[in-house]
Amino acid sequence: MFEIALQDNGLELSIQGEVAYFNYFWLRDNCETSWDIVTQERTFDILSEADDLYPVSAEVDDDFLEVLWCDGHQSRYALQWLKRWHKGEKHGDLAVRTRKSWHGDHYASMARFNYTEVMLAASSVADWAEAMLDDGIALIQGMPNSEEALQSLCEKFGVVRPSFSGYAFDVYSKANPENLAYTSKALELHTDLPAEELAPGIQFLHCRTNDAEGGQSLFVDANAVANALKQQYPQYFTILSEYQVPFRYTTKHQDVRAKQPIIELDPNNGEVSGINFSQHLADIFDFPQRDMDLFYPAFRKFGKMLQDPTYLMTFRLNAGECIVFDNHRIAHGRASYMEGSGARHLRGCYVDRGELRSTYRVLRAQHPVVVCPPAWEQLDTDAPVLAQVS
Ligand code: OGA
Ligand code: ZN
Repeated sequence: MFEIALQDNGLELSIQGEVAYFNYFWLRDNCETSWDIVTQERTFDILSEADDLYPVSAEVDDDFLEVLWCDGHQSRYALQWLKRWHKGEKHGDLAVRTRKSWHGDHYASMARFNYTEVMLAASSVADWAEAMLDDGIALIQGMPNSEEALQSLCEKFGVVRPSFSGYAFDVYSKANPENLAYTSKALELHTDLPAEELAPGIQFLHCRTNDAEGGQSLFVDANAVANALKQQYPQYFTILSEYQVPFRYTTKHQDVRAKQPIIELDPNNGEVSGINFSQHLADIFDFPQRDMDLFYPAFRKFGKMLQDPTYLMTFRLNAGECIVFDNHRIAHGRASYMEGSGARHLRGCYVDRGELRSTYRVLRAQHPVVVCPPAWEQLDTDAPVLAQVS
């Protein structure tokens, strides 16, 4: 029933009429003895193998492929496990989820969590992380008015990721401000810090005080806008996902620069995964001048679409609330506020998106979503069923 053909670089295995090919280095690299049992990291070194690595024999025994290698090492692979890889099936990943677009009327339905609840219940952190992956934004309420609350909240997702402003930053109107955020002026829709090589992932803004007149918060699901651009102006979409745009942040002591595409694509599935957009940090565009004829119309159209009330969510952030959003996916800004009308203080910090996804994989596996079947399906049993999570 099982035919095995040893070839130059790999073997062919026929399983019930289907021919599956496996490269010898791949097989040897993934022998189950390659992994450290405690750390689950690979301890086997494929570089130390001979260039002409080959098996002396290979046979199927009891649903396992058994290989005897030229150096005497024996490997054993479950056929069920092998089946998964021969067509190049990708690793399953709980954290690769379909993003749910939202529009300007999202405020009422925005996911909300309570600070104490997420500090105490890991299942709430899993739900919050899921909202971040799906919607890119959530509101945490009931925050204590303390310096430490922000860090404690961030650490539910992972290690705080410093930026060129340090581990955390305080947004209020200052004398001699280093940047526009530290004034009472309006902040155009933007994503934070595209001048950094890897712009920060998840942004937390904890509102400590907000007694000022004005200063409404602005948020836009830029993925929804980028997808609309792709549909309506495909040539603009291509330009904005291909041109590497220079961004720059300077102070007396810093000169931070990076080039980023305005629209980022997800390597897992080619979907729009985010944007880099900041007119106040955009450096002088240094493309050939003829290319400006193409770039500016695309850039301006996209920027204007971000401001369109269809997409723009506006609300007042209240003291005791922390808005948490994906800094690559959600463009944010604020209206100007009246200097002297009252205090306004936000404290912010970041966590990388990889930390969020890692936390989600672990917590969702430990706290699966429980789906109750409809009543008419509960004739035999009232037991809830676990949702499929892979
Ligand atoms: C910022 C910022 C928002 C606000 O500091 O980058 O976007 O409401 N602040 O002040
Ligand atoms: Zn900002």
